[in-house]
Amino acid sequence: MDFKSLFRPGILATRPYSPGKPISEVQRELGLKTVIKLASNENPEGPLPAVLEAIADAARHINRYPDAACHDLSARLAEHLGVQPQNLIFGNGSNEVIDMLIRALVSPGENVVFSAHSFIVYPLTTRVHFECGRAVPLGPGDRHDLAAMAAAVDDATKLVIVCNPNNPTGTYNTAAEFDSFLEKIPPRVIVAVDEAYYEYVTAADYPQTLPMLAEHPNLVILRTFSKIHSLAGLRIGYGVGHRDLIAELHKAREPFNVNSLAQAAAIACLDNWHEVAGRARRNAEQREAMAKALEKMGLEVVPSQTNFLLVRAPGQAGEWARRLLEKGVIVRPMDAFGLGEGAMRISIGLPGENRACLEALGEIIGS
Ligand SMILES: Cc1ncc(COP(=O)(O)O)c(C=O)c1O
Repeated sequence: MDFKSLFRPGILATRPYSPGKPISEVQRELGLKTVIKLASNENPEGPLPAVLEAIADAARHINRYPDAACHDLSARLAEHLGVQPQNLIFGNGSNEVIDMLIRALVSPGENVVFSAHSFIVYPLTTRVHFECGRAVPLGPGDRHDLAAMAAAVDDATKLVIVCNPNNPTGTYNTAAEFDSFLEKIPPRVIVAVDEAYYEYVTAADYPQTLPMLAEHPNLVILRTFSKIHSLAGLRIGYGVGHRDLIAELHKAREPFNVNSLAQAAAIACLDNWHEVAGRARRNAEQREAMAKALEKMGLEVVPSQTNFLLVRAPGQAGEWARRLLEKGVIVRPMDAFGLGEGAMRISIGLPGENRACLEALGEIIGS
């Protein structure tokens, strides 16, 4: 049976998402006891004790379907953000909200604009969905060329996705740049700003997008509990937007898309928001120390506002990433992101993990 002939061209043109390798897989494959994962921009600090307690409590009720409307979580997050629950939609990770936006908005022949060398899910999802992606090259300094992105919008554009700060470069666009970009986008085009790394940002001129919603009803803000909140394994993220836009988006949502453990854990994260500042500070300290040490090794490090660093070493970075793996340090080669052998992405780990990574990289470079 030739199953290939049954599937849409977009599926045939797509290679499956290739995630950072799990620790257990590397241990199994290479027979290593100790493996350090700095590949998927996770929070190495792990979930808070209060979050684990909330999950254990909720686990007693998993014979029941979750609250499809995420009622309690919506109320809690709405209060936290200063919006209404009707402005919120939750997904099985913010990934799912990206998917919902594309599925709900784009018909055949229409397109979605985003940056080349941005979050890999944008080209993957748009390829599967009518091959509707339109990638715009990054500008100088590995930052989004927002003027070029605005210029790429045409009559058939339904959605523009701006990842800010950007994965995998770690760079950001300023409030002034984002403001002027929004002014250029016709109100009939939805702008999704993917702020997965929002809580890590320390730059004073980073855009605060929530207050922009009032003036720009075509704006949707995407955030996640996977990163600073340490819930990557539970899968929960959300979108914030105009209530009428969100109401339409709910129609593209699967009925029980967010599990009950994730809902309980997210509420506990919001109840413990005071922990975020410390997590962001510790990340920033390690990020700066890592960047300095890598630069001392002669590598080019892209300035980052996130919990990872893009490290350039033309012609060598891909090979180094593979050799780091053999030494039990998983970083992310950037071939899937279209950066080939030129770069690797290193997530910020705990101080000891970062030291081990630097040591292993030093050995590889010096060998
Ligand atoms: C820019 C960006 N958006 C979204 C996500 C996905 O987040 P989630 O785990 O909420 O699906 C990631 C995860 O790496 C990301 O880097």
